[in-house]
Amino acid sequence: MSRHDYKFRPDPKWEAGFFVPPAPVPMPKPLNEWSRMDVFDSILAMSRNPINATTKASMTEEDVMSDAMGQTVVVVTSPEAVRHIFIENAANYGMHPVRQSILKPALKDGLIAAEGEVWRKARRALSPIFTPRHIGEFPEPMQRVTEAMVPDVFPDGEIIGADEAFLKLAYGVLSETLFSGEIDNNLDDALKDIATFMNVLGKPDPLDLIEAPKWLPRLTKLGGRKAIARMRAQVTEVSDRRRHRIDAGKDVPKDFLTLLLTTKTDDGERLSGDQVEDQIMTFIGAGHETTSRALTWLTYLLSQDTKTRSRFEAEIDDLDMTQPTKNWINHIPFAMACFNESMRLYAPAPLISRIALGEDKIDEKTIPKDATTFINLWSLHRHSAHWEKPNSFDPERFMGDRAKTIGRFDFLPFGVGHRVCIGQKFALQEAAVMMAVVFKAVRLNWVDEEDHPWPLMRITTRPEKSLRMQVERR
Ligand code: HEM
Repeated sequence: MSRHDYKFRPDPKWEAGFFVPPAPVPMPKPLNEWSRMDVFDSILAMSRNPINATTKASMTEEDVMSDAMGQTVVVVTSPEAVRHIFIENAANYGMHPVRQSILKPALKDGLIAAEGEVWRKARRALSPIFTPRHIGEFPEPMQRVTEAMVPDVFPDGEIIGADEAFLKLAYGVLSETLFSGEIDNNLDDALKDIATFMNVLGKPDPLDLIEAPKWLPRLTKLGGRKAIARMRAQVTEVSDRRRHRIDAGKDVPKDFLTLLLTTKTDDGERLSGDQVEDQIMTFIGAGHETTSRALTWLTYLLSQDTKTRSRFEAEIDDLDMTQPTKNWINHIPFAMACFNESMRLYAPAPLISRIALGEDKIDEKTIPKDATTFINLWSLHRHSAHWEKPNSFDPERFMGDRAKTIGRFDFLPFGVGHRVCIGQKFALQEAAVMMAVVFKAVRLNWVDEEDHPWPLMRITTRPEKSLRMQVERR
């Protein structure tokens, strides 16, 4: 069989009345038939873009388990296997060393990178912050910031990078809800540092993929260190200032930072300065790019399927924006269905990886100790056993009776089990507010007639090149 051509990019198309957006052709060879050359190719391809290394079998067969790269790789696609690994026997599956070598240097003991007792304590301390009572406080500032930023981020008539615009907006919203915008540097500088931070975080170094010893310098990571140090210094400054104000009994904003600084662990202690900083860095890393990527892909999908866009806009136009902002989400079901469909096709954080800490059995299959275990949301969300027309943009599948047919483990943009995304409700509120405010004010029209965006995975799924759109005031 000839080698798989990662560079081949089929054009998007219309099929049976539905738009089929750009996606790489999955690798035809199952993992267990890979030659040494295939393994070598795939390490290079994964380092460039992990989505390229998705196999066809993982999108058509259930519970694929194979050998590759000298170790066992288990790609989990059956609901039973997902339930087993992430819920029933979750204790046997730890964070994967490759994932940790990507996240840990920047996020330290932030919730997403922490493990064991450190994670358990932090999750218990942070969970109350993410309850509906607190999350309900945030939509109003989200609305205020989005309204204030729209004219600048979406200037009338201009061609903009939609991906950059949504990143800016999502960071503006996050910065307001995290620390009431009290960080000192200007938005563009902050965004540059965050982009470097995410690029460094998001690109697996080939040495990490082959699990080379830690003392070997990861040259691809050097550029990001300064940006990470600058961001951390800003976070330290703002949180020190706030802690002093809290300790002095002064009035403080009701934002994440205040909640983090006043929350207590099981031992009745407040989180240390380092712990608060790790969590804030984590919320920045985990919380702004994900939501903005989903909105970016949604904008592209709607720009192609203009009939769906008209229905989406009509629903947003009918929304009574004078009611409490936290209720908006319940009044725009079709827009939320479009947002979910965007997350299905272009999962914002598609690779959920674990390592088997001990030998295990699923059905009759043995999972050896140290097996690499993946949920690849890219394949799960396009799996032919779970979805009709899996590659088509069809938001209706998330509405009414059709939504009821979606299995509990078929659509997992926020992960599953005890490490499920803690920011899920926050993200959905944010998406609802941003969609309502932005798309009531503007329409984004696609301008690169021939040049469709290509999905690139750097922890999040982003367009490889800037997604150019022309702003039309509505
Ligand atoms: C559309 C938006 C988002 C998506 C698709 C998303 C996706 C995910 C996924 C898939 C995981 C699980 C990773 C794993 O199991 O290895 C996760 C975890 C996490 N997410 Fe999100 N996320 C989003 C928004 C947010 C926001 C807004 C925040 C914070 C404000 C956040 C904070 C976190 C944290 C702290 C974790 C780690 C939880 C733990 O391990 O206990 N996320 N997210």
